[in-house]
Amino acid sequence: MAEMINRQILFAKRPEGMPDESCFKIVKGQVPKLQSGQILIHSEYISVDPYMRGRMSQRKSYSAGYELNEVITGGVVGRVIESRADAFRNGDYVVGTLGWSEYSVIDGKDVRKVDKEIAPVSTALGILGMPGLTAYFGFLEIGKPKEGETVVISAAAGAVGSVVGQIAKIKGCRAVGIAGSDEKVDYLKNDLNFDEAINYKKNNELEMAIQKACPNGVDVYFDNVGGQISDAVLMQLNNNARISVCGQIALYNAKEQPIGPRIQPLILTHTALMQGFLVRNFSDHYDEAIKALSLWYREGKIKNKESVLTGFEKLPLAFIGLFKGENIGKQLVKVE
Ligand SMILES: NC(=O)c1ccc[n+]([C@@H]2O[C@H](COP(=O)([O-])OP(=O)(O)OC[C@H]3O[C@@H](n4cnc5c(N)ncnc54)[C@H](OP(=O)(O)O)[C@@H]3O)[C@@H](O)[C@H]2O)c1
Repeated sequence: MAEMINRQILFAKRPEGMPDESCFKIVKGQVPKLQSGQILIHSEYISVDPYMRGRMSQRKSYSAGYELNEVITGGVVGRVIESRADAFRNGDYVVGTLGWSEYSVIDGKDVRKVDKEIAPVSTALGILGMPGLTAYFGFLEIGKPKEGETVVISAAAGAVGSVVGQIAKIKGCRAVGIAGSDEKVDYLKNDLNFDEAINYKKNNELEMAIQKACPNGVDVYFDNVGGQISDAVLMQLNNNARISVCGQIALYNAKEQPIGPRIQPLILTHTALMQGFLVRNFSDHYDEAIKALSLWYREGKIKNKESVLTGFEKLPLAFIGLFKGENIGKQLVKVE
C-alpha cells in the first residue's frame, strides 16, 4: 500500500478555565505498517465528550490525565480498511477509545464491532454507546423511577440528558428538562415529548420556573450540570427523592470551586438519596443495556439526534462548543 499521510491532534497546552484552540495542535505523520493481529482503520466519526476536560487538568480524577504533546484519545467509530486480524474484514465498522487520528493501526482486541444494520454507525458514540449507557444506568439504577413520578434533567438536550428524558417517558414519568436555549426547549417538548422544558438562560427566577413545571415536586433529579441549576432543583425535592449525580459541567472550567448552599439539611429532611456514579461501574451489564436501547430505538421510543461538524480539524472547535451549549443531542465530528 502506498504511504499514507495521517493527521493527528495533540494535547498542546493545559487550559486554564475555558479551553481554546491553542490547547490543541494538528501534526502530520505516516501510518505505521500493520503487524499480525492488527487492523488499520479510517476514523469516520470522532466523539467529543465533557469528561475529556477533566483529563486536561492535573487534578486527580477517575480517568488518566492527558500528557502534553500526546495524541488525544476518545471515542472513535472507524471503518476497517486493512486487516491482519482474523476476526475483522475490510469494511467492518468498529468502535473504541482511540486517538484523534485520521487513521489508526490497532490491535483487534482494542475495539468492538458495530452492527450497521441496527442503527447508523455513529450511534455507537451516542444513544447506543457511552452516553446512552450512562443515561440507562444512571437513571434506572440510581434514579429508580416509578410510574407517575416527576423527573428533572439538567443539560436535558445533550447526549446523555436527551436519552434520560426519553427513558423517563417510556417509564411513565413526567419529564422536565432544563436546557440553555429556546431551540433546545422546543426540541425537548415537540420532538422528544418532554412534559415541560425550561430555558435556564432566560429565567432569572429558576426556582419558581421549576416549581411551576413540577407542581407535584421532584422525585428524581438527573444532574448533568451542578452549580446554580442544581441548587434550584434541590429546593423542590419530594420526600424520598433520588438524585443521580452524573456530571458537573457547570464547574469543569471553574478556576475556583464555588461554595454552594449547604444541602445536607434538605437531604436529611426529605430523606433523599444522592449518589454519584461512573458509567463504567456498570460495565458487566453493557450488553443488556445496548439490547434495551436498540429495541427502544427500533420501536421509535428513543430518537437519535446528532450535531455533526464535518472535517477532522474541527475537533477542537466541537469540543469547546460543548461548554458553550452549541450541541443538540450528541456532538460528533465526521472525518472526511
Ligand atoms: N458519570 C458518567 O459516567 C458520565 C458519562 C458521560 C457523561 N457524563 C457527564 O454528563 C454530562 C452530560 O454529558 P454529555 O456527553 O451528554 O454532554 P452534552 O449534554 O451533550 O453537552 C454538554 C451540554 O452541557 C451544557 N452546559 C455546558 N456548560 C454549561 C454550564 N456552565 N452550565 C450549565 N450547562 C452547561 C450545554 O447545554 P445547555 O445549552 O443546556 O447549557 C451543553 O450542550 C456532563 O457533565 C458529563 O461530564 C458523566
